[in-house]
Amino acid sequence: MTAGITDHKLDRLVHLLVKNATVVMPGPKIASEIGVSRSTVWEWIEKLRALGLAIKGHPRHGYQLEKLPDILVPSLVRSELPHGEIGHKIVHYFRTDSTNSAALQLDAQDGPHGTVVIAEEQTAGRGRLGREWYSEKSSGIYTSIILRPPLSPVAAPILTLLAGVAAHRAVRSATGLSVDVRWPNDLLVNGKKVCGILTEMKAELDRLHMVVLGIGINVNHRALPEELQEIATSLALEGGRRYSRLQVLTELFRDVERYYHMLLKEGNAAIVREWSAASSYAEGKRVRVKASGREYSGTTAGLDASGALKVLRDDGQPELLVAGEITELR
Ligand code: BTN
Repeated sequence: MTAGITDHKLDRLVHLLVKNATVVMPGPKIASEIGVSRSTVWEWIEKLRALGLAIKGHPRHGYQLEKLPDILVPSLVRSELPHGEIGHKIVHYFRTDSTNSAALQLDAQDGPHGTVVIAEEQTAGRGRLGREWYSEKSSGIYTSIILRPPLSPVAAPILTLLAGVAAHRAVRSATGLSVDVRWPNDLLVNGKKVCGILTEMKAELDRLHMVVLGIGINVNHRALPEELQEIATSLALEGGRRYSRLQVLTELFRDVERYYHMLLKEGNAAIVREWSAASSYAEGKRVRVKASGREYSGTTAGLDASGALKVLRDDGQPELLVAGEITELR
C-alpha cells in the first residue's frame, strides 16, 4: 500500500463491502457507486487482500467479504463513535512514518481540536526518551489525538495522565483484562507493557496551541521482537485470544472525550483521583527511578495536584518527579 493519506474512495470501498457483507457486489456496481474505474476496484481489492482482508470473488462475478475486517478506516471508526469531538475528523494512513509527526504538521484548520490520526503501520514510530516504537502492520493501534485545550503549558502534564487513565479504561472494558498504569502512563498487563503514550505539544509561553496524545497499543501481536519480550507483551498474548482493534480504538476515543470534559469541568483533582485509583504505582510501590541523569531507589507516595509523582528516596529525601522513568523493584 502506498504512503499518503488514505483515499476517501478506498475508504468508501471498504465501507460498501462491510455494509453489504451478506451479498456478492458486482464490480461495475462498486465502480459506479464510488466513482472509479473497474480496474481501480480490482487493484484496490488486491491491496486490501494484501492487508489481510478476506474478500471472495473476482472481477467477473463480483466481490464479497468472508468476514468483517479489523481495519481502522475512517468510515468504520466513525460509525462506532457518538457525535463527540474526539474523532469527528479522522486522518487515516495505511502506512506513515509516525502518526505524531503527521499530527504535529496539521494546522488549526486541517487539524482542529479532536482530530485523530490513525495508521495501520508506522515505519518510524517514536517512543518516549528518544526510543523507537515497534509498529507492526495491522496488529496494533497507532493513533495521535489532537487537543487544543484552553490551558497554559504548565497544565500539559495532567493531559499526559489523562491519556493514561483513558487508555486504561478503554483497554480494560474492551478486553476484561486486569490492567495497571505505571507512572506517567504506561499500561501493563501481568507486569509487561502493552501500551505507551508520547505526549508532544506546540506552545507559546502562556498558551498551548496543540497537544498531541500519541498512543500505541499492542493488540494482536503474536510475538514481539526478542529484545522486547522481557518487558513488553500484547493483549492477545496475555488474553489468549484476538481482540477487535476497532473496539479498543473507539472506546479509547470515547474515554479521552469523557476525561477531557471531566478535566475542564472538575479540574486536575478529578484526573489525579482517577489515575490513583487505576494505578498500583500511586502509593507504597518500591521503585527504581531514572530522572534528570540521576538514578535512585525509593517508595512512591502519591501524586501532587499537577500530576507529579512524589517519591520518598531510601536515604529519606523526598523527590517530586515531573519527568523520567520508573521501574518496579521486586
Ligand atoms: C512510549 O515510549 O511508551 C511511548 C510510545 C508511543 C507510541 C505511539 S504510536 C502512535 C504515536 N506515534 C508515534 O510515533 N508514537 C506514538
